[in-house]
Amino acid sequence: MLAQTPPMGWNSWNTFGAAIDEEVVRQTADAMVEEGLKDAGYEYVVIDDHWEADARGPDGRLVWDEAKFPGGIPALADYVHGRGLKFGIYSCAGTHTCGRRPASFGYEEEDARTFAEWGVDYLKYDFCYKPPGADGRALYERMGQALRATGRPIVFSTCEWGSMHPWEWGASRAGAQMWRTTGDINDSWESICDIGFEKQKDLEKFAGPGRWNDPDMLVVGMHGEGNVARGGCSDEEYRTHFSLWCILSAPLMIGCDVRDMSPAARDILTAPAVIAIDQDPLGRQGYCIGQSPHRWEVWRKVLADGSQAVALFNRADRATWLIPLSWESLGLHDRRPAIVRDLWTGEDIGEFTRAYADTVGPHACKLLKITPVY
Ligand code: GLA
Repeated sequence: MLAQTPPMGWNSWNTFGAAIDEEVVRQTADAMVEEGLKDAGYEYVVIDDHWEADARGPDGRLVWDEAKFPGGIPALADYVHGRGLKFGIYSCAGTHTCGRRPASFGYEEEDARTFAEWGVDYLKYDFCYKPPGADGRALYERMGQALRATGRPIVFSTCEWGSMHPWEWGASRAGAQMWRTTGDINDSWESICDIGFEKQKDLEKFAGPGRWNDPDMLVVGMHGEGNVARGGCSDEEYRTHFSLWCILSAPLMIGCDVRDMSPAARDILTAPAVIAIDQDPLGRQGYCIGQSPHRWEVWRKVLADGSQAVALFNRADRATWLIPLSWESLGLHDRRPAIVRDLWTGEDIGEFTRAYADTVGPHACKLLKITPVY
């Protein structure tokens, strides 16, 4: 099955926007290997919008922008594959992409065949310029079918911004492995909160192996630079963002420039114990189990080995809070001893019964693993 666990990779949009070219993609693939991202599990190198020429070729096929991709997309896909990674590309269900390049409406079969021939392993499929009257959901079903008909395993990543409740039909009707649930993220604490904390509520029941809610690409490590920059975030806020995405079983698509990562960004993006929460084989998406008027929240994700990941989030701007966690809220008997481990430091904090509490600073979080002792 494709995407048995949430797909991990890199996407060009957050940093490069329209300024994407083959040099950047090649260097990114190199950096993913050299900086340890591949070893940490990141696999897909995805080119977003603006790779296409202004018009289709005379045979009606999509063609790449020669100035940006002089070597051509198939050779670039080969290069990425040669580094032991997978290659992804972007199109749109309407007549044009959001950046006004030719898109796949009416050409679904041709384009799916073209992508398969080029060696594409992942397709992000956007929703701009839908002809009036066209049934949006049917367009995703059509491309899903066209991809399957190629016989090549291609992850289908839909991006209609949650507008048609894709969690209800993405997997069952369109054969998608992941679907965007919201509009676009930007590199700010406000955007992370809006998308991550507010807009993912009640979606956990729709996710599982092969079918994932996608709260958009990561902004970790952008530090206020690049296409979706809006002032940037602190490293603490990026750690909270990454923790939340892992609790959400979200696809982990890096959005920063991995050729030039800060050491802190690299440490966040490659933290093995945290990534293991996202990639847990049970594939249960986490959810909020407690919220305070003081703006702290407790989230829980059940794991395959009988333990649970718990995140204590402090969304307050200035206050530090002592955030309580009861065994009852985790479905554990009060008398059951459980080991509490801090997943960011790797330290076992101790064995507790009935409850645990920890202090968490503004915009920070504690990511814990709670393992009952039987
Ligand atoms: C939309 C998508 C973004 C990105 C751009 C490209 O806004 O939601 O993720 O793909 O289009 O133009």
